Amino acid sequence: MSDERLVNPSEGGDDQQAEKSLRPRTLREFIGQEKTVEQLQIAITAAKGRSEPLDHTLFYGPPGLGKTSLSNVIANEMEVKIKVTSGPAIERAGDLAAILTNLQKNDVLFIDEVHRLNRAVEEVLYPAMEDFALDLIVGKGPSARNLRLKLPRFTVIGATTRLALLTSPLRDRFVSVHRLVFYSDEAMNEIVSRSARILNMPITDEGAQEIGRRARGTPRIANRLLRRVRDYAQVVADGVITLDVARIALAQLEVDELGLDESDRRLLRAIIELFNGGPVGLSTLAAALAEEVDAVEDVYEPFLLQLGFLQRTPRGRIATRRAYEHLGVPFIERGTPGDDPNSPHQGRLF
Ligand SMILES: Nc1ncnc2c1ncn2[C@@H]1O[C@H](COP(=O)(O)OP(=O)(O)O)[C@@H](O)[C@H]1O
Ligand SMILES: [Mg+2]
Repeated sequence: MSDERLVNPSEGGDDQQAEKSLRPRTLREFIGQEKTVEQLQIAITAAKGRSEPLDHTLFYGPPGLGKTSLSNVIANEMEVKIKVTSGPAIERAGDLAAILTNLQKNDVLFIDEVHRLNRAVEEVLYPAMEDFALDLIVGKGPSARNLRLKLPRFTVIGATTRLALLTSPLRDRFVSVHRLVFYSDEAMNEIVSRSARILNMPITDEGAQEIGRRARGTPRIANRLLRRVRDYAQVVADGVITLDVARIALAQLEVDELGLDESDRRLLRAIIELFNGGPVGLSTLAAALAEEVDAVEDVYEPFLLQLGFLQRTPRGRIATRRAYEHLGVPFIERGTPGDDPNSPHQGRLF
C-alpha cells in the first residue's frame, strides 16, 4: 500500500527524474534546515581553506527531507566528485574495496541507508575512515599475509532514517552528525514556489502555501503534490494553481487539511477502534494493518508523532486526544475503570 501513497515520503517510481531537476545544487539554494546548513557552510569553507577533505558526515532523519540533496550539495561546494552507493548495494568486502581504490583525493563517498551495511563490509570501512587505509589479505593458507594499502584522504557521507540501527563503532567514526527536521510552513512555501518556478508552473502565493502546508513538512511530498495539482490546474483553471485549485485537487486526492491521507487515518482508527486507543505494541499494530513493522515505524509514525497524534510509550502506541478530535471520534479518558464518573464504561464492566 505504501508504494502508491501520494504522501509516502520515500522515493517512488516517477520521482527520480523529476527530483533531479528540483534538487538544490548549492547551500545558498538549499531552503530551511538552517542549523545544519550553517554548520556545513563553516566546515566546507574551513576544509577547502586547508585543501583537505570534509570530515566524515552523517545525516539522519525521516525520508524526503534532503539527505541525498545535501550530500550532492556538499560535493558540489567542495568541488569534488561524488560516488553514490548504499548499504544494501555493497554486498561483499571486495565491493567496497573496489570503490575505495577508485576514489581520488577529497572525493565524497555517499552511502545511503548506511545502517544496512553488513558486518564484513563495515570492518573494511573502519580503517578506511579512520586511517585512510585498506587492509588486504594476500595469498592463501600459510603464505597468506596482511597488506596495508594507503588510500587518498576522502569523505564518507552517510545517510540513514534509522540512527538507532547504526552500530556504535560506525557511528563513532562520523565526525559531524546532523539531524534533519521537518520543514516549517514558511520553508515549505518557499520550496513549493521554487519547484513551481523550475517546472514552469504558474502558481499563486496562496496556492503554494496550501500545498506546502499539506505536505507534512517534507519537500519530496510537496514536489509530488505539486505535480498532481498541476494536472487539475490544467484541466479546470487555465493552468494556474490558485488556492481553490489546490484545495479542490487535494480534497480529491484525499490529502486532508493536515496532510494526512487514508493510510494515516486508517492507522489512527485502528488504534482507536481495534485497540481502544492503545497502548498497542508496534508489531501487533503492523499486523492489524497488514503492513511491515519498518513501514509503520519509518513512514507512518514520524509525522503522526510530530503532530502529537501518536505517543510511543514503553507499553506501546497510544492515540492522543488530538487524534480523536481530528478524526471526529469522541475521546474517552483512559485510566482505571471506575475512576471517572463520566466514563461511558462506568458501571458497564461487570
Ligand atoms: N531544502 C530543500 N530545498 C528544496 N528542495 C528540497 C530540499 N530538500 C529536499 N528537496 C527536494 O526534495 C526531494 C527529496 O530530497 P532528498 O534529498 O532525496 O531526501 P532524502 O534523501 O532525505 O530522502 C529532492 O529531490 C528535492 O527536490
Ligand atoms: Mg535519499
